[in-house]
Amino acid sequence: MISDAVLAYYQSSKHADIRPEFQSALDFAPSTGVAIDCGCGAGSNIAHLRSCGYSVHAYDIDEQAISLCAERFANDANVFLSVDSFGTFNYPKSSLVIADASLFFCPADEFDEFIEKLQISLGTKGVFYGSFVGERDTMAGSEFNAQQYWGDVLVFNKDEVRTALRNFDIVQFVEHERDGETATGEPHHWHIFSVVAKIK
Ligand SMILES: C[S@@+](CC[C@H](N)C(=O)[O-])C[C@H]1O[C@@H](n2cnc3c(N)ncnc32)[C@H](O)[C@@H]1O
Repeated sequence: MISDAVLAYYQSSKHADIRPEFQSALDFAPSTGVAIDCGCGAGSNIAHLRSCGYSVHAYDIDEQAISLCAERFANDANVFLSVDSFGTFNYPKSSLVIADASLFFCPADEFDEFIEKLQISLGTKGVFYGSFVGERDTMAGSEFNAQQYWGDVLVFNKDEVRTALRNFDIVQFVEHERDGETATGEPHHWHIFSVVAKIK
């Protein structure tokens, strides 16, 4: 069953503004073609990608997220949705792939497969935007209750992010660190790496 914390997140993020690094990725990516939203949640980034003219393939492991998006984009023939995980999704060739606050929850044993499929999907021209949980984030701590959200958290340090993306040129690498709160108002220390990258 979906938790209150997840429902609150979908409610609060449904019409969220896009993050600055997502905008950078849009500036660098080919301006037409297919965009893929990995772990799309309530669909705010799908809506933005559609407003930019991309045809959007989006997936999420959570059926509830996909049914919210199915309702939201019911009249849009250029939004293709599926219940999938990072390793199981069938990635079409794309201009832009985004994983906004979703790789946080990528099962560790799917991560390498994701990177491999990502590279094939993007070819030589496509752009990737993704964010990664850093070691000092509350989610990386032993007291964090991962089960109230989407399960185990995949934590990176700076070097590990760069190593994972070794076949990419990093266009932008931003380390965010601040005290704030979650969608349900709980205090949270955020430590996130946001990366925009292109295949070398
Ligand atoms: C913090 S939300 C971010 C949602 C959206 N990208 C956004 O920026 O609003 C994390 C999302 O990742 C999804 N997720 C978690 N594990 C996943 C997996 N293994 N494969 C695909 N999506 C996953 C969750 O269901 C959730 O929708």
